[in-house]
Amino acid sequence: MAEKIKVLLVGQGAREHAIAKSLKKSDLELYAFMKAKNPGIARLATAIELAKLNDFQALEAFVKKVQPALAVIGPENPLADGIVDFLHELGVPAIGPKKAAAKIESSKSFTRKLMQKYNIAGLPAYRIFLPDTPLEEISKYVDAVGKVAVKRDGLAGGKGVKLMGEHLKNLEEVIKYCQEVFDKGEAVVIEELLEGEEFSLQCFVAGEQVVPTPIAQDHKRAYEGDKGPNTGGMGSYSAEDHLLPFISAEVVQKALEIVKQTAKAIKQETGEEYIGILYGGFMLTPKGLKLIEFNARFGDPEAMNVLPLLKTPLIDIFMAMIKGDLASIKVEFEKKATVCKYLVPEGYPVAPKKEEPIEINYEQIKEEQVELFYSSVNEIEPGKIITTTSRAIAIVGIAESISEAEKKAEKATSFVNGPLFHRKDVGTEELIQKRVTHLKELNVL
Ligand code: GLY
Repeated sequence: MAEKIKVLLVGQGAREHAIAKSLKKSDLELYAFMKAKNPGIARLATAIELAKLNDFQALEAFVKKVQPALAVIGPENPLADGIVDFLHELGVPAIGPKKAAAKIESSKSFTRKLMQKYNIAGLPAYRIFLPDTPLEEISKYVDAVGKVAVKRDGLAGGKGVKLMGEHLKNLEEVIKYCQEVFDKGEAVVIEELLEGEEFSLQCFVAGEQVVPTPIAQDHKRAYEGDKGPNTGGMGSYSAEDHLLPFISAEVVQKALEIVKQTAKAIKQETGEEYIGILYGGFMLTPKGLKLIEFNARFGDPEAMNVLPLLKTPLIDIFMAMIKGDLASIKVEFEKKATVCKYLVPEGYPVAPKKEEPIEINYEQIKEEQVELFYSSVNEIEPGKIITTTSRAIAIVGIAESISEAEKKAEKATSFVNGPLFHRKDVGTEELIQKRVTHLKELNVL
């Protein structure tokens, strides 16, 4: 009997649980390297190793024991730390870019300079300020541009971007935030503040071969009506036609072109082929389609919109990517809509209630035919799950329309009990209509 393919999965969130579930639809062995025990991944894995994701010594020992055929890297931090370069030295190919190419996410200034140098569309007005910049220069730039978005150059877990008029009331607060970032020895990228509607385009990339997945829209704000502090993402939805009610096929095509040009530019600039997921965060604005950010990985929650719809085995796609042969396989998705709702601890993201028990009615989850993904929870004894300080459980409804998927997901949130809350408005007709109206008001639609 042929040996099963051994896959090493790095990461412990709901995104990685979705990757694990998708991979395990094929007859393979999964090995998980995690910071904390995700009960969903642990159940699917042949063996797990618990260690910090930047503990390369522990990783090496696990790799030598398991001898995986390939590794899949879920989150951005290990990519920025060079985990893929390290695995290559151990002879393990990986889904995820090497450190130099992962700068597309880990350095905002790298991305903006790359887009400018290679003349890639979607670039907003921007300027990079190094830590020794006199603060008057920043004042002059902001005066000239008007409202701005201020971005920390490096990774900040989604919390490094502050918008003028929202998180930063005035120029004084912009300067104060820049100084805070400079004090960490980091540069800031200041960009014109854009108005419009965002969407995420996640692509499988192997060098210049780029295959898109259905677009989705995430919700960064903690509370209904897009109010409250920014979070890692409170939920997301995708439509049965793989577009969005306010994003046309033509716009998606333009976004895909930007991702393709970027993958090519990364190779030219760094000498490294980009092998992995390239996620473009786009905004449709009155000034056209703009690229807000790139991520070097699947989105969380957006991975949970696209992976459950995949008809092509994920392992076949990953193997083809590693062989540089992505173009040879047909990547297909079910023509269904999805709505993902994240249940998060009360008080999240400011003062989350941690170590609180969560009870899940698995029978009803099964009956309702929704997907459940564990995120930052801890299984302290078999079946006993407690919250940590971050997002806890993601529920995904899948149906013929967004509205049906939303109803399924919403109903299923009541099968998870504990001191948790979620955004009831994710995927509702009312919210989507607001997005449409917003773009109409901006004369974009
Ligand atoms: N959904 C945003 C992210 O994954 O960064």
